[in-house]
Amino acid sequence: MTNNSGVTPRSAHVVPRHRADHRADSEQQSPVARPLDAEAAVVVERLHVARGGRTVLPELSFTVPRGQVTGLLGPSGGGKTTLMRALVGVQRVTSGQVRVLGLPAGTPALRSRVGYVTQSPSVYGDLTVAENLRFFARLLHAPFTDIEAVVGQVDLAGHADDLVQRLSGGQRSRVSLAVALLGRPEMLVLDEPTVGLDPVLRRDLWEMFHRLADEGTTLLVSSHVMDEATRCDRLLLLREGELVADDSPGVLLDRTGAVDVESAFLAVIDARTDRRAEVPA
Ligand SMILES: Nc1ncnc2c1ncn2[C@@H]1O[C@H](COP(=O)(O)OP(=O)(O)O)[C@@H](O)[C@H]1O
Ligand SMILES: [Mg+2]
Repeated sequence: MTNNSGVTPRSAHVVPRHRADHRADSEQQSPVARPLDAEAAVVVERLHVARGGRTVLPELSFTVPRGQVTGLLGPSGGGKTTLMRALVGVQRVTSGQVRVLGLPAGTPALRSRVGYVTQSPSVYGDLTVAENLRFFARLLHAPFTDIEAVVGQVDLAGHADDLVQRLSGGQRSRVSLAVALLGRPEMLVLDEPTVGLDPVLRRDLWEMFHRLADEGTTLLVSSHVMDEATRCDRLLLLREGELVADDSPGVLLDRTGAVDVESAFLAVIDARTDRRAEVPA
């Protein structure tokens, strides 16, 4: 995947921005509430989601900037998958607004503009890599000419004719990723794409995410592994359905004086717990 040659330019209507622009943008010190940003890829306002009769996301508001890699980080059970489901329009929401690429989440027109990779691989084991991609290309109305490019992008060119069930777990999750890349979506929502991958593959995947972002794609990538945070342009830290930080990794570390994001996360949690303790009953 270190081989860059499989990467093709994104659709012309996606305007690539320079990383320096992102940095200036991401160093603004505004922790949770942000003004409505017409330019943002995602605008979530007061989102409330309940599952199984229990509140999972009490009241979330945030934006995701375009053309960056935003990490959605936090412990398991914190609501990352639920939030991603709401963004791609497959989660029933109780109240609040979720807009993606300027449209309400789940709008049919977004289907080809947003690629979603679920936590567990969602491809067919009894089909080959190429057969899966042809099937999904037809479903997504993506040109068959994309197939070779996406297989190259996820570094599976040598496995195109292998049955998916014969692949390793890491290879299988890259097939799901290849499916999400069909049609060159403007935004990718990737739920824990690096879980269970060896360090080399993880590094290669993150490099690919940044190449895509440099070409103008917006990526929202979840992980419960905090050491992946430094690979993101921006971080959303989600704990028990609440956003406890929304910063660039550098700003988060400066703000908390912590040496790494895991310590910063704990510092933020401790500060919140202390503040709550100070509130008289
Ligand atoms: N299908 C479901 N029905 C009811 N509750 C669920 C369901 N899926 C997840 N939950 C609950 O929602 C909360 C958030 O889960 P999830 O969004 O999967 O978190 P994460 O992806 O951060 O691990 C958890 O408390 C979990 O038990
Ligand atoms: Mg999850």
